[in-house]
Amino acid sequence: MTVKKALITGITGQDGSYLAELLLKKGYVVHGMVRRASTFNTQRIDHLYRDPHDPEARMFLHYGDLTDGTRIAGLLEQVQPDEVYHLAAQSHVRVSFDEPEFTGDCTALGTTRLLEAIRTTGLPCRFYQASSSEMFGASLPPQHERTPFHPRSPYGVAKVYAYWATRNYREAYGMYAVNGILFNHESPRRGPTFVTRKVAMAAARIKAGLQDVVYLGNLDARRDWGYAAEYVEAMWRMLQQDEPDDYVVATGVSHSVREFVEHCFAHVGLDWRDHVRFDDRYLRPSEIDDLVGDASKAARVLGWRPTVLAPELARLMVDAELDGLGQGVVATASPSPAQALVGL
Ligand code: NAP
Ligand code: GDD
Repeated sequence: MTVKKALITGITGQDGSYLAELLLKKGYVVHGMVRRASTFNTQRIDHLYRDPHDPEARMFLHYGDLTDGTRIAGLLEQVQPDEVYHLAAQSHVRVSFDEPEFTGDCTALGTTRLLEAIRTTGLPCRFYQASSSEMFGASLPPQHERTPFHPRSPYGVAKVYAYWATRNYREAYGMYAVNGILFNHESPRRGPTFVTRKVAMAAARIKAGLQDVVYLGNLDARRDWGYAAEYVEAMWRMLQQDEPDDYVVATGVSHSVREFVEHCFAHVGLDWRDHVRFDDRYLRPSEIDDLVGDASKAARVLGWRPTVLAPELARLMVDAELDGLGQGVVATASPSPAQALVGL
């Protein structure tokens, strides 16, 4: 039996780490593109890493950046993947208002660079694009595959570009290229400046007496939060179908930020109102009020269904933070002084 090879961009991110785990379990050889940084950025995948000299090694990392098309083409030639999971992006919505040009270069054009590299190298590989519910923006819920896009951030605009680039390469060149339109998904591996992780960290640290308050922005926004470890299975299933197509992946239930906060603090026996303060630096110039995904197509065609809903997610994220503190992993204040400086 031939062993399948996958290339994951964004392998050091939340989703990349869960997807790498899943594909290794399925017997794949996994190649990951990692951008060079002056500090190590591989913490989420360190547990999967084996020295490449080890004959058992099945995960290999390569330097590359979404802004460097030549490198991307070279990497594809070198790796010759059967499946490409394109997860890398400037993925923070609030940051995209500060860095709209970079977000467009990385998140939008980066996708075209990858698609064009696949086309010009002529590799018969399958391509997954990490599309986002952020593309629906102001369109009323529930949102599904035929809901019009009305993005409300430079990030959302960039993802709409990437979505259509993916569809265009499918239609123009017959490429097996799909969009997974994923609604918010979280985990203990979530970046600490996204609201769920920020709140889970704060609840645990406040319980442990390490901090008193956490500053947040809009508590009224509603999101459809699922569990990242389950969502990567849907990505894989999308690339195993006979025909390429686009799918919404979501739980179908939304909660306000306030409700999520309430769940996290209640889990450690605290009243959130004693510990949450408002800071307008966390507001966005334009916001999305309510995202609720209708993932019935993914259930019908892919047989994919979520099992973890927001209340359980809140508990498991807070428990992971408490475990970390118990093991002496003293997380920095949430956000850390440097993150607070840039307003996240
Ligand atoms: P994440 O944790 O922010 O990870 C993003 C990844 O992209 C990281 O590996 C990051 O590398 C890499 N990256 C960023 N800029 C890059 C560049 N210029 N060149 C190469 N790599 C770069 O995001 P995530 O939550 O795993 O999400 C994965 C993808 O799904 C993203 O495209 C995101 O926009 C999309 N998405 C996420 C959600 C969600 O709720 N999580 C929902 C819908 C869509 P570093 O580790 O070095 O920063
Ligand atoms: N980050 C953050 N920090 N968000 C806050 C805060 C805060 O202090 N206070 C309130 N919020 C609100 C935001 O205004 C937003 O309405 C909601 O919490 C969720 O914010 P994030 O966790 O930053 O996620 P997001 O919904 O903007 O974007 C995430 O989901 C998208 C899918 O819909 C990201 O993962 C995107 O990459 C992804 O595409």
